[in-house]
Amino acid sequence: MVVGSTQLEVLNEYERQQIGERQPLPERYLGVSDEELEVRISAARAALGDRLVILGHHYQRDEVFKFADYSGDSFKLAKVAAERSDTEFIIFCGVHFMAESADVLSAPYQRVILPDLAAGCSMADMAAADELEVCWRELEELGVTDVVPVTYMNSAADIKAFCGREGGVVCTSSNAVATLRWGWERGEKILFLPDQHLGRNTAYSMGVPLDKMVVWDPQQPMGGLRPDEVAAAKLILWKGHCSVHTKFSVAQIEQLRLAEPEVRVIVHPECTWEVVQAADASGSTETIIQRIRESAVGSVWAVGTEIHLVNRLAKEMAPGRTVLTLDGLGCLCSTMFRVSPNHLCWVLESLIEGEVHNQVVVPDDQKHWTRVALDRMLSIQ
Ligand code: 13P
Ligand code: SF4
Repeated sequence: MVVGSTQLEVLNEYERQQIGERQPLPERYLGVSDEELEVRISAARAALGDRLVILGHHYQRDEVFKFADYSGDSFKLAKVAAERSDTEFIIFCGVHFMAESADVLSAPYQRVILPDLAAGCSMADMAAADELEVCWRELEELGVTDVVPVTYMNSAADIKAFCGREGGVVCTSSNAVATLRWGWERGEKILFLPDQHLGRNTAYSMGVPLDKMVVWDPQQPMGGLRPDEVAAAKLILWKGHCSVHTKFSVAQIEQLRLAEPEVRVIVHPECTWEVVQAADASGSTETIIQRIRESAVGSVWAVGTEIHLVNRLAKEMAPGRTVLTLDGLGCLCSTMFRVSPNHLCWVLESLIEGEVHNQVVVPDDQKHWTRVALDRMLSIQ
């Protein structure tokens, strides 16, 4: 459906939701105290019972996260969305690309709600489907055709659909090694998008040297690369990054090691290659939690990932271990932060009234190939 601004005015409520128009928080939900929100969310949750399931990503704020029936990284939450076909609604407390994947993986009768549709991801926005089409065509012009496209979970549904259609796959930071192996079993080269850092860090950990990787800049003709550079590469990395994880630096690690010689540093693989090399370990959010929980009591960890997870690890998830944030202050993902308890309260209370707000719907023409790419992802562990 193509919708111009004048047409928008005549759309009915259902059609507005189909195109994902954001419905703002009503004023009556502003200024409600934390205590009242907690009581009202709990009451609405109880009233809705098994009609819904609430999924919460590790980067969500505590006031929202505590209501999650399932918490996890993006891989784990995608699996839950595929498995919990027994509910009418999936309330996804996370960001837009995660809710889109849940919509594709869930049953056709289920509806996925993202409490605030403005909860996007700046990294996902760094790859647009039209730029990917141009890249693919230009690679073909260079005679580079034996390429498997692999997109990180942090990408829009149309990018995932492209990868599904072209024999590729979706990966997350939990299964990136296995996914790259899968890709190189099927093609000579991999085009990895949108996060150059996850791609580089993963391939390097598998023994691929840096000089076999190139960065494709979608803002430049032919990605800004010479034909011989593309020909020599095993991995073509899209020029995208996470604005949160790239804030961590080697200098921070060095300073911390001076102040705390016992400290062990663990970072998310969306950090730069230099930071991952300077750290003791790297891994997805689930891996970070597991490594710290399994470490000896008394261990001291500095963690390079989003501040809400780091704080939760420090406060309650890893008793007996000291957990610090790598930069001393904490990096916040502002789009994850958009999902507030006020939004959660509103969408739940509205459901009791029979109103569905901020539903995420992947258009039918993208669903099939997105599902193919996501199903391949779930089969690769
Ligand atoms: P995980 O796949 O580790 O949950 O990470 C998602 C994400 O957005 C990290 O920035
Ligand atoms: Fe996107 Fe980075 Fe936020 Fe993750 S932390 S949702 S990659 S902006």
